[in-house]
Amino acid sequence: MTATLLEPYVLNDTLTLANRILMAPLTRCMAGPGLVPTQQMADYYARRAQVGLIISEATIIRPDGQGYPNTPGIYSAGQIAGWRLVTDAVHAQGGKIFAQLWHTGRISHSFFHGQTPVAPSAVAWEGTLPRMRELHYELPRALSEAEIAELVSQYAQAAVNAREAGFDGVEIHGANGYLIDQFLHHETNLRQDGYGGTPEKMARFALEIVDAVCRQIGGERVGLRLSPGGYAHLKGDARDRAVFDHLLAELNERELAYLHLGIFDDSLTFDYLGGRASDYLRAHYQGHLVGVGNYNPQSAQEAILAERFDLVAIGRPLIANPDYVARLQQGEPLVAYDESMLTSLV
Ligand code: FNR
Repeated sequence: MTATLLEPYVLNDTLTLANRILMAPLTRCMAGPGLVPTQQMADYYARRAQVGLIISEATIIRPDGQGYPNTPGIYSAGQIAGWRLVTDAVHAQGGKIFAQLWHTGRISHSFFHGQTPVAPSAVAWEGTLPRMRELHYELPRALSEAEIAELVSQYAQAAVNAREAGFDGVEIHGANGYLIDQFLHHETNLRQDGYGGTPEKMARFALEIVDAVCRQIGGERVGLRLSPGGYAHLKGDARDRAVFDHLLAELNERELAYLHLGIFDDSLTFDYLGGRASDYLRAHYQGHLVGVGNYNPQSAQEAILAERFDLVAIGRPLIANPDYVARLQQGEPLVAYDESMLTSLV
């Protein structure tokens, strides 16, 4: 039984979703020249418009945010026009779509844009780029406070651009070890100025972006993705707990559409969070919570009935099953996901 999953869900006065299933943001590296979304991408998203809300693949807010080939942007007129193809196609099928706003920070590479990557502090991530194994991650340059202020306004501008492109809202990508997350963890934030050294200062960049974006497009159209447990592109630290405790208390004072966990497998546990990251967020955040990470329809339905979270984001199974919702409605089995499916946009 998956009845609860398929029921409409009221996020706020502005947005009611057709069901509790979100399409998780999924980077596909298929943008065209100029990092412009294509008609093929529009068709791909439109095929999935039956979910309650699509979160777009992560979308860079400026050129030096790029960390992978052919990831779309949302800073040029051409990119905004390309996204308009996508949002029109999704809306024509009755769907809703948010843009995920992204800067990879130290997970960027000069190979893509010719500049030294920027980050809270000059600490490199060990390792090489996926699918480009000959490229090692570089030592990033620490941002100045003036550059941080500029980035905050560029996130806000990206949200304005997203609305101009027809998106119903945005999700700020604060998860998975990218720029915003790098400010929230001790391994990557060694600053001793206004943006580091205490939990309040480490959470400041994230909160300034949330506030700037909400001021531009209204909090009811803004989601935030967070990874309180360090698990991708950085190492967690017991001291990070106080940063997230503070951040979540501050978020409870604000009107966001939802908070979304960033993780690949929600059965992972973190000592400093006292268990699963989703349970930690549920205990500390009072708004709508989106769970994710290896859920199937049955386990998602159970988790929602147990009130562990309110909505579920589905990633890989939606790559394998564009008609995921129709299959649930009709009680048809799902096609199993396989990595080979990443080579084409079906
Ligand atoms: C992802 N994920 C991801 N997360 C994110 O916040 N922005 C992104 O652009 C991407 N891109 C991405 C690409 C691919 C190919 C995969 C498999 C995953 C993570 C994704 O949103 C989700 O959290 C995980 O896939 C776990 O959910 P599922 O796949 O188990 O339902």
